[in-house]
Amino acid sequence: MVKSTGYKKIKTAVFISGTGSNLKSLIKFSKTKKSPISIDLIISNNSKAKGLKHAKLNKIKKKVFNFKKKHKIENQILSVLKEHEIKMICLAGFMKILSKYFISRFRGKILNIHPSLLPKYKGLNTHERVLNNNEKYSGCTVHFVNSKLDSGRIILQKKVKISKKETKNSLAKKVLFQEHKLYAKAILKIFNH
Ligand code: GRF
Repeated sequence: MVKSTGYKKIKTAVFISGTGSNLKSLIKFSKTKKSPISIDLIISNNSKAKGLKHAKLNKIKKKVFNFKKKHKIENQILSVLKEHEIKMICLAGFMKILSKYFISRFRGKILNIHPSLLPKYKGLNTHERVLNNNEKYSGCTVHFVNSKLDSGRIILQKKVKISKKETKNSLAKKVLFQEHKLYAKAILKIFNH
């Protein structure tokens, strides 16, 4: 359980690599009274990530890091997180794998959203693999991050039904729609709201 510190919201950083639609819904949620978190920093490995526009739109600080020298970069990120008093991290479409070392510095404080019903379909190209296996259902999962990819403790999941004419794109859209609601619900759940 993550402890809430009374009326003060927990300073949170969101890590993104692309569109940032989950970031957008997290920002919206963070501005509601019931949200236990505030979003104070956006971090990306990709300077062209479309989602970075949400920093300016919402007056949130953003930082871009080139992950070529991962160990060095992770230490730089840890310093920036400290500087901004960040206590929690939400990964939202972040395409880099964080090291054991980094994760241990934020143990139990990093969440991720994944577009499948974990433990099924860890990793990339989930929708394609789900359809190739003729699954009847798919969905999304919010989980704690540990050192194994997409394997940390599950917080919340949402199932969606796969239609007969489902395509990779239609499934992605259907799942993403649910992701936007699930992340906020999972955060409320871990803070016992
Ligand atoms: C989402 O489906 C997320 O689960 C996956 O990548 C996608 C990111 O979408 N890891 P967005 O950048 O939040 O729009």
